[in-house]
Amino acid sequence: MNKQSLFHQGELAIQQRADESDIAQRNSVVVKNHIIKGALPFIAQQVLTVISSTDENNQIWTSVLLGQHGFIRALDDQHIVINPQQMISQPADPLWRNIEKNSQVGLVIIELSTRRRLRVNGNISQLDDGQYEVTIAQAYPNCPKYIQRRQPALSNEVLTYKAPEPEFGKALTSTQVELISNSDSFFVGSGVDNHHNDASYRGGEPGFVNVINKHELLIPDYQGNSMFNTLGNFQSNPNAGLVFIDFTDNKLVQLTGTAKILWDQPDDSNNTGGTKRYWRFTIKAWQETQLPTGLNWTFFDYSPHNPKAENVAVLHLQVKDIVQQSEKIKVFRLAGKDGAILPAFEAGAHIPIDVTLSAKHTVQRHYSIISSSHDNRFYDIAVQQEKLGRGGSNHLHEQVEIGEQLTAKPPVNDFSLASSGKHHVLIAGGIGITPILAMVRALSENNESFELHYSVKTSADLAFKDEITQLAGKQAHFYITQDVNGSRLNLPSLLTMENKANHVYVCGPLSLIEAIKDTAHNNGWQPSHIHYESFGSAVHKNDKAIEVKLKKSGKVIVINPKETILAGLLAAKIDVPYECKRGECGMCATEYTQGTADHRDIYLAKEEQAQRLCVCVSRATTSAITLNL
Ligand code: FES
Repeated sequence: MNKQSLFHQGELAIQQRADESDIAQRNSVVVKNHIIKGALPFIAQQVLTVISSTDENNQIWTSVLLGQHGFIRALDDQHIVINPQQMISQPADPLWRNIEKNSQVGLVIIELSTRRRLRVNGNISQLDDGQYEVTIAQAYPNCPKYIQRRQPALSNEVLTYKAPEPEFGKALTSTQVELISNSDSFFVGSGVDNHHNDASYRGGEPGFVNVINKHELLIPDYQGNSMFNTLGNFQSNPNAGLVFIDFTDNKLVQLTGTAKILWDQPDDSNNTGGTKRYWRFTIKAWQETQLPTGLNWTFFDYSPHNPKAENVAVLHLQVKDIVQQSEKIKVFRLAGKDGAILPAFEAGAHIPIDVTLSAKHTVQRHYSIISSSHDNRFYDIAVQQEKLGRGGSNHLHEQVEIGEQLTAKPPVNDFSLASSGKHHVLIAGGIGITPILAMVRALSENNESFELHYSVKTSADLAFKDEITQLAGKQAHFYITQDVNGSRLNLPSLLTMENKANHVYVCGPLSLIEAIKDTAHNNGWQPSHIHYESFGSAVHKNDKAIEVKLKKSGKVIVINPKETILAGLLAAKIDVPYECKRGECGMCATEYTQGTADHRDIYLAKEEQAQRLCVCVSRATTSAITLNL
């Protein structure tokens, strides 16, 4: 695809204004003029697709399509087919009349439960058999940040639903104001002439959309993929369409109007997550549609990336106690300074702690909280010393003493228990026991059904055994893989087809997580039932130094055996987006053109790994690798 024509003037202007043009160019490698092979089956697995279209007055509307699995599917890598017979009928939706006049559409095909989504732009036409075909102009997977996980389920009756006439208006009703003020997500459609419409998800903590009055909304614009498709469209054409879903009463509120971008706004409460960017949406008209009761939405959790006011706060902690738990693990009790009560957290949460490696070098390390969430006078963290690691655990083990002051960010939880789970299967590998221990504690305190499988290499690695036995009793199973009489986890027997209503939580090395994901997938488990957090250092004991060559700038950076490619790039002042640093979010995925990658992420599909690698964890099996930077 010709990079020159990939972005239109509006997108280029916004990328430049935000000083993110380089990152946008780099990230644009994901944009194709076809759907990548790995994403084709994903489409037919979805029940939700959002589509934007333009009416005869050039107003944009955003519509929500819900249907049985297969209602939307890929014919090939250039064509998607939508079958209205398999959908909840919404005959009065503006989409149907809009596409008679203007075939430009933008789609976001989204699986909220796994935060996966595919954005597609193209032209739609009706086929002789009544189905609709979208011919692809652009397609790309999209950033999973800020998506709240929930799962729609449709009973068979919804297909015979006769929708009542929608309601229409210009000023929001008080019920709509309440819905929008409390919402945690919506979809936005935008577009420009001669380019294509876009549809996109926007999410945040409940209340992230500010209803200024019955005609205007104020919406923060968080850090994204830097391509600015939506804001770029606003720049060229302010017309936009929003749709809010009432997940409780099954209503759709579609708004059409105009958007204006606001730069450099005061943001003392961190409402924008640091960008200081908002957009103001002025409503011209709305349409409200009742959906059938046979549609149910199960909420799982909020995105851990949602900006929160507290995220900018700094916690001042004091080390109150240190206990040697096992040969390599120390437990540190961190209390609020002067007895201050600490922010609440839930099982699975971790705190980012500032660790000073040298006079000039402070890094942040993340440690799971293992103490009870019912007592927030302190956090207990367990730290395993990695002698060959990057220094954080060595510092805590060797330098930090009782009474020492530490600073940290408030707890973050991207590994929480599913509230809908009836039976929870907890699996820990090695030091991955730490968030799992907090889960054991929470489930046991709440008398919920669970079982624990905890695997270590040697009996010296088996930490917290007494405490676990006390909490979990016979529900705890221990595996010591390198003992003469040791046993191993039997994943196929844990993840049988019959057990697939269970929820599984795994924390441990990437190989364990991959094995569980593969076994669960082969046995028909839903991805939303598999929860994981990787653990351990991104660098391995036998890693060698590698040369990273940057194709565009010609620079060569040597990555030493103890450092990640991402760390080396950042140290060389090469701007690379990143988030999790654990190979889970895909933000740092970078195209490589030469060399053989040693993939250690759990985000990229196999096909994608042939082109890109997650530089926060992956390395090279060759002595050099060339990145398209
Ligand atoms: S930063 Fe998340 S995968 Fe690299």
